[in-house]
Amino acid sequence: MSSSKADNVPKLYEAFRGSFDIGAAVNPRTIIRAGDLIAKHYNSLTAENEMKFVSLHPAEDTYTFEGADQIAAFAREHGKKMRGHTLVWHNQTTDWLFQEADGSPVSRDKLFERLKSHIDTVVKRYKEDIYAWDVVNEVIADEGPDLLRPSKWLDIAGPGFIAKAFEYAHEADPKAQLFYNDYNESNPLKRDKIFNLVKSLLEQDVPVHGIGLQAHWNLYSPGLDEIRAAIEKYASLGLRLQLTELDVSVFRHDDLRTDLVRPTGVMLEQQEKRYEELFNLLAEYRNHIDAVTFWGAADDYTWLSDFPVRGRKNWPLLFDGSHEPKGSFWRVIKQTSQTSQT
Ligand code: GLA
Repeated sequence: MSSSKADNVPKLYEAFRGSFDIGAAVNPRTIIRAGDLIAKHYNSLTAENEMKFVSLHPAEDTYTFEGADQIAAFAREHGKKMRGHTLVWHNQTTDWLFQEADGSPVSRDKLFERLKSHIDTVVKRYKEDIYAWDVVNEVIADEGPDLLRPSKWLDIAGPGFIAKAFEYAHEADPKAQLFYNDYNESNPLKRDKIFNLVKSLLEQDVPVHGIGLQAHWNLYSPGLDEIRAAIEKYASLGLRLQLTELDVSVFRHDDLRTDLVRPTGVMLEQQEKRYEELFNLLAEYRNHIDAVTFWGAADDYTWLSDFPVRGRKNWPLLFDGSHEPKGSFWRVIKQTSQTSQT
């Protein structure tokens, strides 16, 4: 990118100063390949995978901090905030945690001991870098009457593992803001379950400070009215809110086409309109929302290329594959100049 061109592009996070932070999920490759873009436009970083259990703690006596340390060093060098992601999850967690050496399940007490030791080690290591942690990720069941999804956590420990994780994280860093984080967070059925879970944690004086709305959305859903209702419901608990993993897929959930090598003009127009509407809505709730983190920095690298449809590229972010601002970027920026005039 030529410097004269770059100079004409306002910094995304500065446009939202006074409303909320603007974050990106990064990894050790993107902080190199897209390092300038990330440094310029985002003021908060989340490690895409490098702070997950499997990445940090592959065996009981082995911690592997290299990738996470590289990201923390980049954040420090560029003066960025950091969110920690994630301490308890049913995915990307190694089997040893749940097993004895002979493969039999560990006891509840031993699972809690291991969890405490993991949380202590990880949270204390990044205490100076990380101001907020996704403590528990995705424990709610998407469908049906059950509150919690089946998992080894639930099998071995019962529902008490959720409160324990927050308590251990709070002991490890009493200053950190602690989040419950989930997807399909604007779906009314799941929204109400998330609300009920977090409400019951608060009633038990569990240290929960915020709800993370992952916000893996697309051009068509969820509806703005559903997003609004979710924000209002979560905010009614008196907690801080963040969008933690925002992206706007150009494909409907059940659209499986794989023929496109670039987004159609219609898709880009719809995405511009969608981003403008979303950020208008988020700006309305800026007193409740502290950060909006995108799940990626630019369209050249996004987890949605190849997922859930293999061999399919997606273009869900505000910067294109060459790190240039898309029309959606300008619509989002335009919206901030209108807000600051009102
Ligand atoms: C979930 C997790 C993230 C990430 C995405 C997909 O939303 O919270 O860490 O794995 O899935 O990339």
